[in-house]
Amino acid sequence: MGIFFKITISTLISFIPLYVLAHKVTLEDKSLEKIVNERMAIMQKIKSTSSKLYRLINSDQYEEMLELNETLLHSASEFKDFYPENSQAEGASDNIWSDRETFNEYNQNFVDDIEMISLSIELEDKEMISDAIKAMAANCSTCHKKFRN
Ligand code: HEC
Repeated sequence: MGIFFKITISTLISFIPLYVLAHKVTLEDKSLEKIVNERMAIMQKIKSTSSKLYRLINSDQYEEMLELNETLLHSASEFKDFYPENSQAEGASDNIWSDRETFNEYNQNFVDDIEMISLSIELEDKEMISDAIKAMAANCSTCHKKFRN
């Protein structure tokens, strides 16, 4: 994939508005296609935000880091709500529906680690920030191994 294409894609994704409903998302509210696209867009947002954050490790740009981390927290917090009953689709493993408890637990671990990043940024502790971001990033592969096809 060319760099220009990558930039275009990530720019587009940053502008896709995510219509987050205040109540629990169900399939009656949305078509399957829409909900699948939305949850993939959330993951793309998580990917671009976390890599931007990664690049700021060891910098003094605490305000920018905090802002990125807030975006990450928001995306990670809403992600699990985009897997209602009967919304099975290609990229998502059936384990999400057969072992919802572990899926929720992995999501919660991810959210907890992101909150730890916020704390470390507020303390302006570079070593802690670096450790916290690396701990957060370990969640990606742990969850993908079990829950992504
Ligand atoms: C709690 C589980 C979980 C965590 C944590 C997680 N992911 Fe994912 N991710 C998934 C699932 C499930 C899918 C499949 C989405 C689908 O097709 O429904 C996915 C898909 C993706 C995709 C593909 C999206 C697309 O457009 O097809 C990317 C990129 C991605 N994740 C990046 C990341 C990165 C980077 C992190 C860590 C910073 C991360 N994920 C953390 C569960 C997780």
